Amino acid sequence: MKQKIVMGNWKMNGRLDQITTLLQEILAGISANPFAQCAVFPPAVYIQHVKQLLHHQAISWGAQNVYPARAGAFTGEISGAMLSDLGCRYVLVGHSERRHLFHEDEKFVAEKFHHVKDHGMIPVLCVGETLNEREQDLTKQAILRQLVAIASIAAEQQDVFNGCVIAYEPVWAIGTGRTASPEQVQDVHHFIRQSVSQMMQSSVETLPIVYGGSVNETNARALFELPDVDGALVGGASLVAQQFVEIVKCIN
Ligand code: PGA
Repeated sequence: MKQKIVMGNWKMNGRLDQITTLLQEILAGISANPFAQCAVFPPAVYIQHVKQLLHHQAISWGAQNVYPARAGAFTGEISGAMLSDLGCRYVLVGHSERRHLFHEDEKFVAEKFHHVKDHGMIPVLCVGETLNEREQDLTKQAILRQLVAIASIAAEQQDVFNGCVIAYEPVWAIGTGRTASPEQVQDVHHFIRQSVSQMMQSSVETLPIVYGGSVNETNARALFELPDVDGALVGGASLVAQQFVEIVKCIN
């Protein structure tokens, strides 16, 4: 069986003491599982702290954002090199909150994606349709547009999606308590795998494609059983240690 990845996106939540307790409880609750990998995405100011807590532990960590430049006058921003200094394994790019609340366009998302790879980390590329696009039957077009944007500025088409994770996150399912049905999820995940395979002209059986959008301990098992689902990107439920642990336990 392929390993599955459960990622906790903490977004802008938690203070130092809460994050410490959350992580300690997660570490205490998660038992070794050869089929599961875990990662957490703390707010940037706490990455160093999380790194210290996770020293010699099986959980990896990543950043929620990055600025795609080497260095310079970009007040408030954090580069890939800096995140790499903090031991980040993953960086989220294209999350719908960044696309919509912070108006990040396809080109900027693509620059971030390649910047992360260039710095030896794994981009977690979030793609997904809005409710409007779903209702107008434009889901696959929206996903394809987001994937093509990444490939269009790649130096080498053949390995553009190598060493990345793709997260399918329907915008209407994020933080709403509304999850896509297993049929909808499998359909889109299969479409993503096929599309990426065509773009790269190679088989992408091992490309991890995770699902995100109101994943919790009651719907996770059915999602993990789908053939093209390789894990989950969890928001709200990752802030409650017991819920996150229960989601990981659904992998067996
Ligand atoms: P949610 O968030 O699990 O709270 O819906 C998912 C995400 O934003 O990645």
